[in-house]
Amino acid sequence: MDVQTLVELTDNLLFTKTGKHLDSLQRVILQSTLEGKKYPEIAENSHSKYNHVKRVGSELWQLLEDVLKEEDIKQSNARSILENFYFSHISNTANDWVNVNNNHINICRENKQSPSPKNKSSPTPTDQNQNNTNPENHDLSEAPDLYSLCDRHTELTTLKQWINENHTRIITILGLAGIGKSVLALQLIEQIKDKFDYIIWRNIDNYPTLESLQTSIINFLSPPDSSSQKTADFSPAKTTNNQLINYLRKYRCLLIFDNLQEIFASGELAGTYLPDHENYGKLFKQIATSSHQSCLLLLSQEEPKIELGNHYCHTLKIYGFLEACKMLLQERNLTDEDRWLELINLYGGNPLWLNIIADAVEDLCDGNVAQFLSCSTLYLGDLEPILERIFQRLSELEKQVIFWIANQETAVDISITPADFPHSHSDLWKGIQSLKRRCLVEKLRETEGLFEGECHSPLHIWKETQSLKRRCLVEKVMETEGSFFTIQPVIKSFGKMLLASEQ
Ligand SMILES: Nc1ncnc2c1ncn2[C@@H]1O[C@H](COP(=O)(O)OP(=O)(O)OP(=O)(O)O)[C@@H](O)[C@H]1O
Ligand SMILES: [Mg+2]
Repeated sequence: MDVQTLVELTDNLLFTKTGKHLDSLQRVILQSTLEGKKYPEIAENSHSKYNHVKRVGSELWQLLEDVLKEEDIKQSNARSILENFYFSHISNTANDWVNVNNNHINICRENKQSPSPKNKSSPTPTDQNQNNTNPENHDLSEAPDLYSLCDRHTELTTLKQWINENHTRIITILGLAGIGKSVLALQLIEQIKDKFDYIIWRNIDNYPTLESLQTSIINFLSPPDSSSQKTADFSPAKTTNNQLINYLRKYRCLLIFDNLQEIFASGELAGTYLPDHENYGKLFKQIATSSHQSCLLLLSQEEPKIELGNHYCHTLKIYGFLEACKMLLQERNLTDEDRWLELINLYGGNPLWLNIIADAVEDLCDGNVAQFLSCSTLYLGDLEPILERIFQRLSELEKQVIFWIANQETAVDISITPADFPHSHSDLWKGIQSLKRRCLVEKLRETEGLFEGECHSPLHIWKETQSLKRRCLVEKVMETEGSFFTIQPVIKSFGKMLLASEQ
């Protein structure tokens, strides 16, 4: 039995028995193991820590032991045990349907694919209740190869509700670099893939024009050999827009546009299209306002402005993720667990940033977190190039706002005219609004005498950490009414550094 079939059978079996699919790391470990690879190689190929891969691997074998009612499954015998199991349980190999333990599992085997819309010469609209998990109809080849330690349950529930119940047409997942947008989208796909006829992930970075992006999508939906829907390579934008919308009507498609910030201009306010990408705005408007059964998921560090964005469009801002950060720190050789929360807070609960900083703690302080935190300034190290890229995208006005906030003792109340801001009050508002569209400033609101950030802001974490008073300045906010904004310690620190270098 070939490896891919074994993986798919196992995934379906686990889903049938536990209600959960393999997550991406489990899938990599299973597939690589079946291909004869050992943990060190798997860890290297998946850019993961050896200990983590080994732990997830052991848990996977344990899970399979429970599900298959087998004993002592390990890397060396996993393939033979799985093959024996499936051969003895497959009742009718001539069918496309594989019967495992009396559960009919829809498996698309290598030479026995169930008919898919893509293979039909004249496609028909899909029955939405049909359980379509045919990987033939998924193109995730441009998705990053990521694994996740923890699900963002609240965010996933919101996204599923918007998609399944509200039939939202455009969803933007907005957040800072490294906060986990792509991981979240991959988790979402895993949970809703059976609701869509097609799932297509496109990385905006790979497409110089909207037309080339649309052509690639249309060619996937209707390969060039199906003559009725054949597309010329670069059709005029309007025609291609209409063609794409027709497909979104005909099939229930989930399109993911990753790294959407690339269509916006640097040095301008957030969401300003590059001159040759203004046609994206027209496409978004059309997708938001036309009737169809599909969903466009935008992953971006910068919020797009969608004209006539009605109740069919939603934006989900994602913030620091405490659980994931805790778990990834556990994978490292770090001491002083009682100080980890402080470390997580200082770096905004951003999993990517924490990973980078954990390297520094290991390199500079032998993993001693207390020693690392004793540094009198916030250490940025390898975060600097990431922050530089973020700052390069800002308009002059936004930089001025960041510099100004960075020099304030407390969160700033923008409802009163600031004495020391070098531009007008309305300019301050304009800058703040734009920075909010990049998740670079956070609005505070008063709750039970304490200030919290909006929903999942790391501020709810900050609240827990008394020792942060010194650097986060959140608790000092006055108890008067107002509209208070603040920036994360990392942004503040980098802003100050940049300002000093410019003076
Ligand atoms: N839920 C999670 N569990 C564990 N690790 C996570 C999670 N989310 C993110 N990470 C870690 O953070 C890294 C960055 O995540 P991801 O690539 O999804 O960020 P992003 O927001 O898409 O960033 P960018 O804007 O640069 O594309 C991942 O490689 C992973 O190591
Ligand atoms: Mg990403």
